[in-house]
Amino acid sequence: MTDLINLKKVNPKKNIVLSQQFTKEYLDIIFKLSTQMKKDYSKFISTLKGKVVAMLFYEASTRTRFSFESAVLRLGGSCITIENANEFSSVSKGETLEDTIKMANNYADIIVLRHFEDDSTKRAVSVSDVPIINAGSGKSQHPTQALLDLFTIYEEFGTLSNLKIAVVGDLLRGRTCDSMVYLLSKFENNIFYFVSPLNSKVKESLKEHLKENNINFYENDSLEQVLPEVDVCYMTRVQKERFSTKEEYEEAKGKYILDNRNVNIMKDKAIIMHPLPRVDEISVEVDTNKRARYFEQAKNGLYVRMALLKNLVENN
Ligand code: CP
Repeated sequence: MTDLINLKKVNPKKNIVLSQQFTKEYLDIIFKLSTQMKKDYSKFISTLKGKVVAMLFYEASTRTRFSFESAVLRLGGSCITIENANEFSSVSKGETLEDTIKMANNYADIIVLRHFEDDSTKRAVSVSDVPIINAGSGKSQHPTQALLDLFTIYEEFGTLSNLKIAVVGDLLRGRTCDSMVYLLSKFENNIFYFVSPLNSKVKESLKEHLKENNINFYENDSLEQVLPEVDVCYMTRVQKERFSTKEEYEEAKGKYILDNRNVNIMKDKAIIMHPLPRVDEISVEVDTNKRARYFEQAKNGLYVRMALLKNLVENN
């Protein structure tokens, strides 16, 4: 509920803040465009000509930053980048996020922001005249990840309704679970199965949202009980860096692992997804399993972000 109230304060056409802001109509546009981009993007190579996109990353990233940068470059734009902003920007001298965003407004037409605080995107939006894209905000949201997750599911099943989805791992500290479930909960008749360690259960706010919208969900301790039921198994990493103590992390880690012993109890047509990076929750031996989609999912991030950027510049 809080997220939805806050959402009204931002301009969802201009800024990418929460996955809830994406309408079915928007997804239709972005997915058609992503499919086109994936096939052949040659006619879009001047889309961002003359545009500068700032990548402002306070937390580590491989996929999000690379795919956004690659998307900008493939569309004919330019990037300016600060990685590890806490250390390699004037944040290290005490500059606030707000001042940093105001400065980036002088130099860029769009700002892609990854930050460790849950409300970072909203703070950035409040002082920015150029669009802000949330590339991961603390443990709250990662809306562009949800776009590529749903695109991957849509590519596979040709629908985003009537699906059974297991979401496995650190659901308390992860952000991709929330963004994906909020967005997928807009579609009819989906059922969610949350499987997580005892100290990493799915957030109350997300469960509240599902209850308010009469969406079926179950919490289960056993991955093996859930695996034969689902169409999608969405694995996530235990977020080591977000635990307050080493003991708590030790208690949560290594509980749920997909490997050759349990992967074959899944339906023949089911798929395995993961936002990545993985640690040990999917064994490397699963990479060649016919159900593995996580590398394709990461690849889709490029095309979905190209589509999103094209749509953003054309609507601002
Ligand atoms: N999925 C994802 O956000 O990956 P990175 O942290 O590598 O960007």
